[in-house]
Order: sequence, then structure tokens, then C-alpha cells
Amino acid sequence: MSLPRTLQGVSGVDPNELIAETLISEVAIRERIAVIGGEIARDYAGRPPLIVCVLKGAFVFLADLVRAIDLPVSVDFMAISSYGSGTQTSGIVRIVKDLDITIEGRDVLVVEDIVDSGLTLSYLVKSLQARRPRSIEICTLLTKPDRREVEIPLRYVGFEIPNRFVIGYGLDFDERFRNLPYIAVVDESKLT
Ligand code: IMP
Repeated sequence: MSLPRTLQGVSGVDPNELIAETLISEVAIRERIAVIGGEIARDYAGRPPLIVCVLKGAFVFLADLVRAIDLPVSVDFMAISSYGSGTQTSGIVRIVKDLDITIEGRDVLVVEDIVDSGLTLSYLVKSLQARRPRSIEICTLLTKPDRREVEIPLRYVGFEIPNRFVIGYGLDFDERFRNLPYIAVVDESKLT
């Protein structure tokens, strides 16, 4: 992550003023999800996937994505928290809420909001692989390829974005802005 996740150090700044510009509009998101949903439906025809949503950030994307997949999918949720201090993801992940559904022998599709260093997802996928699913693939709305620290194969990607801190459409800053219907960039100059 490129910015601190709390408002420490920015006291006196109205969080609403932190929004610099829209990066991806509601319409662009909707159109891209329709395409990805179609691809998933084609690729998984005859073997509907178990979709695993990584909370919290992916919940908005998941809600729109599943409705764009014309297959009898199942959905389950996992909540994880990253160890690590400040702005750096450690890659060590603690499962805060585990899946209710057994994934052994299932075709699992992990739905993420954003892949940054890739450490969180890489750790999560390894721990899911130990449960012997038939297959496991990743669908992420956003990726910041410049920030990648570990190779992680992303089967479906909504948008590649530059190394900026983004909010909205499920993504938060200090637990705010998840309900913005579009993806916006934080104005980093406001944080100094
Ligand atoms: P990674 O382990 O570095 O790939 O971190 C991934 C997690 O960091 C995501 O699931 C988000 O929760 C968070 N994150 C990374 N970049 C951003 C961003 O630009 N905005 C909001 N959250 C972010």
C-alpha cells in the first residue's frame, strides 16, 4: 500500500477532500464486469465454481460480478487480516473468518478487490491449496503490476492501474469510501 491506512498525520483534513479524481467510472466498471462475467461463464460451463470472496474490500465487486455470471455458482466468504505495521503488507495473513463450505474437489474462484504486492493473496492461495480444491483461480477487479513483490497468476483482471492509492467500490481509506460507486484516486498532496 502506498499510503497509511489511518488518518493519523492528516488531522484537520476533511476526508472528503482527499478525493483527487475519478479513475474508473461506474459505467466503465459495469461494462468490464459484464465482459469478465461472460468469460467466467464460458470457462466454467458444466463445472460451476465456488466463488470465494475476500472481505471486506471485494464485497461490492462480488455482488455485481456474480450477477454477471450465468451459471449456478456457489458463494462463500473469508475475512483475513494482514500482520504488519504501517504501510507495508507483511504477507502473513490471519484468517479472521473461515469458509463455511468445504473446497476439497471444487473449482474455486477467489474474488479480490485489488492485488498490490501480491503477498496477501499469495499466502491465502497457498493456504487454500492445502485443502485440495480441484482448481483455484483468481479474479481481481484491480491490479497494480508495478508494486508486485511475488509472482501470482491472475486469471481475470478488471483493470491495471498505476501505483496510486485508490478508494471506492468496496475499497477503503480508514474504513471510509467503500460506498463510492466508482474508483477514485486519493490526493496525496492533501496528506502532507
Ligand atoms: P497486497 O498484499 O500488498 O497485495 O495487499 C492487498 C490488500 O491491500 C488489498 O486487499 C487491499 O485491502 C489493500 N490495498 C492495496 N492497495 C490499495 C489501494 O490502493 N486502496 C485500498 N486498499 C488497498
